[in-house]
Amino acid sequence: MKPISLFSLFFLSFFSFSSSQTTIPLGSSLSASNPNQTWSSPNNTFYVGFTPASPSTYTAAVNFDGGVPIWTAGPAVDSGATLRLLSDGNLQLLNGSGSPVWSSGTASVGVDSASIDDFGNLVLRNRTGFAVWSSFANPTDTIVPNQTFGVNQVFHSGYYSFQLLRSGNLTLRWNDSIVYWNEGLNSSVNVNLTSPRLGLQSVGILSILDSNLPRGYIVAYSNDYAEGTDVLRFLKLDTDGNLRMYSSDRGSGRTTMRWAALTDQCQVYGYCGNFGICSYNDTSSTPICGCPSQNFVPVDANDENILLDENHNAKVSDFGLAKLIHPKDHRHRTLTSVRGTRGYLAPEWLANLPITSKSDVYSFGMVLLEIVSGRRNFDVSEQTNRKKFSLWAYEEYDKGNVTAILDKRLATADVDMEQVTRAIEVSFWCIQEQPSQRPMMGKVVQMLEGVADCEKPPAPKVVTEGSVSGTSINISSNVSALSTFASAPAPSSSSSHQTMGISPIDSENKLERASFSLLHSAPN
Ligand SMILES: *[C@@H]1O[C@H](CO)[C@@H](O)[C@H](O)[C@H]1NC(C)=O
Ligand SMILES: *[C@@H]1O[C@H](CO)[C@@H](O)[C@H](O)[C@H]1NC(C)=O
Ligand SMILES: *[C@@H]1O[C@H](CO)[C@@H](O)[C@H](O)[C@H]1NC(C)=O
Ligand SMILES: *[C@@H]1O[C@H](CO)[C@@H](O)[C@H](O)[C@H]1NC(C)=O
Ligand SMILES: *[C@@H]1O[C@H](CO)[C@@H](O)[C@H](O)[C@H]1NC(C)=O
Ligand SMILES: *[C@@H]1O[C@H](CO)[C@@H](O)[C@H](O)[C@H]1NC(C)=O
Ligand SMILES: *[C@@H]1O[C@H](CO)[C@@H](O)[C@H](O)[C@H]1NC(C)=O
Ligand SMILES: *[C@@H]1O[C@H](CO)[C@@H](O)[C@H](O)[C@H]1NC(C)=O
Ligand SMILES: *[C@@H]1O[C@H](CO)[C@@H](O)[C@H](O)[C@H]1NC(C)=O
Ligand SMILES: *[C@@H]1O[C@H](CO)[C@@H](O)[C@H](O)[C@H]1NC(C)=O
Ligand SMILES: *[C@@H]1O[C@H](CO)[C@@H](O)[C@H](O)[C@H]1NC(C)=O
Ligand SMILES: *[C@@H]1O[C@H](CO)[C@@H](O)[C@H](O)[C@H]1NC(C)=O
Repeated sequence: MKPISLFSLFFLSFFSFSSSQTTIPLGSSLSASNPNQTWSSPNNTFYVGFTPASPSTYTAAVNFDGGVPIWTAGPAVDSGATLRLLSDGNLQLLNGSGSPVWSSGTASVGVDSASIDDFGNLVLRNRTGFAVWSSFANPTDTIVPNQTFGVNQVFHSGYYSFQLLRSGNLTLRWNDSIVYWNEGLNSSVNVNLTSPRLGLQSVGILSILDSNLPRGYIVAYSNDYAEGTDVLRFLKLDTDGNLRMYSSDRGSGRTTMRWAALTDQCQVYGYCGNFGICSYNDTSSTPICGCPSQNFVPVDANDENILLDENHNAKVSDFGLAKLIHPKDHRHRTLTSVRGTRGYLAPEWLANLPITSKSDVYSFGMVLLEIVSGRRNFDVSEQTNRKKFSLWAYEEYDKGNVTAILDKRLATADVDMEQVTRAIEVSFWCIQEQPSQRPMMGKVVQMLEGVADCEKPPAPKVVTEGSVSGTSINISSNVSALSTFASAPAPSSSSSHQTMGISPIDSENKLERASFSLLHSAPN
């Protein structure tokens, strides 16, 4: 044996997992048209190959035996596509027209060969055995046992992403900005982590590993924990924005869900798309996406199978595909129907953000406040110090002056002030700018009936310019911003007015413009 091969043998065993691996020489290729062509791991637990993604498209993937993808190269491609390990060391996916649609970006960095091992890791190595690139280090949306996920990595699935923060928190986001799930270590664990990683044990335990956590921190167990043999468990960010643990029996090609980050799918931000309303009915645990009114039709660019009934109601056929709902007619009809109820619409409508059942809670709160007060919530008059009624009302409530809010026509009647106060408090809870701060409708009913306690509500905060023109409602926004807006334009507060840029009245005009431009710029 020549010294050079001894040298590389040493490095191979030093830098790789202790399992064996199948070597894939430079110049190898696979084609989508022949599903029998694969690069298999030594004991055939995993293979690289094309898997059908739809009747006419395929994805190049690392698959678990049976055809369960755990890593995917680029987008879905046509049947003429090929995956090539080029002689320059680049791993490239070419579509049927020969255009590169994905590459590992490892041309001319000394890649000598590729390999796939029995843990499912596809690795590109240089001559000294160094892993220049690996699928484990570049996860797409899944991790498997023996793969760890660090703070610099991210899963992507459409608009959704999943990340591990340096604090050890696990987060799910929409469009990289809105966090709709954020779970940290519980308070009994009082350590600062150094470089946390997320790992999955083959028995089905998901844990955070860190040098300051000697025994790891268990995040979740799969509900088939330690059961069965030849079962692969994996963690995946699904296209519907939920993070789930699954198990698959070897060779079956089937997967069973074993754990989910969000048990209520409607909590996934934007699950039903813009303007879509997520709800459940009595007979099905699968959420249903509905349109807010008959002026809307569901649109799903990714799903040709979407059906509309005569009334243009959604008949969403596929759970898990991105759904976008657009106004049916962005000329006058839709415009008037949105404008006609302005003042009752939750800020997310005007900011073109996804609508949830909490948006209805907002409208309910506005109506409730009007019933109690006998006044329009957006009336601006001398009586309300030229503030929007709802903002002025909160100030009066805050001062303990509930009588000022009550409908004048009831002033002489025998009114139960405790009930009035309760109704006013509930209405302020409902009109919180942040949807997450609004109560669920069931809670609203309980608070009104006195079954549940009603805490003192925070200020409902006015819509700021940023949250109208931007794409996100600032989750951490400061509740005290109301006082900035609502205070009279006395010299002491004029600087803060300038900082915010708009007065309450201006902000209302901006809202109107925002809804105008929203409706005119809606895509066809
Ligand atoms: C793939 O393999 C199966 C079973 O071994 C065989 O029947 C089929 O003809 C093969 N397909 C191609 C395209 O080679
Ligand atoms: C291949 O990709 C190119 C560039 O994205 C595109 O123009 C072409 O239509 C694709 N061909 C097929 C068969 O999908
Ligand atoms: C294949 O290899 C992996 C890693 O060594 C091992 O965990 C697994 O049990 C093996 N499977 C079979 C069927 O030999
Ligand atoms: C392989 O990569 C490592 C790390 O970049 C480097 O130190 C080593 O020299 C490379 N070997 C060859 C033969 O390029
Ligand atoms: C792979 O995972 C198995 C089971 O979780 C563990 O026993 C083994 O040490 C791991 N091997 C490597 C190389 O990480
Ligand atoms: C997502 O965020 C980007 C950058 O913040 C923004 O340009 C884009 O409009 C957002 N997309 C949607 C659908 O809100
Ligand atoms: C981590 O999650 C906890 C809830 O479990 C939350 O209170 C905390 O603010 C989060 N920390 C970060 C840095 O996001
Ligand atoms: C915190 O985690 C520890 C260890 O995982 C567990 O024993 C304890 O019950 C947890 N406490 C809370 C409040 O969840
Ligand atoms: C974690 O870090 C913070 C800030 O550096 C420090 O105040 C705190 O005491 C640390 N906690 C532990 C348990 O080390
Ligand atoms: C509930 O949803 C299922 C599935 O979408 C549907 O078939 C059924 O008709 C719905 N039932 C009611 C009462 O709306
Ligand atoms: C309560 O509101 C009424 C009507 O606006 C006003 O006349 C009265 O001065 C207020 N009382 C207090 C204590 O603010
Ligand atoms: C949210 O508000 C805070 C405090 O005003 C600010 O620092 C932060 O940049 C804002 N975030 C976004 C996404 O607008």
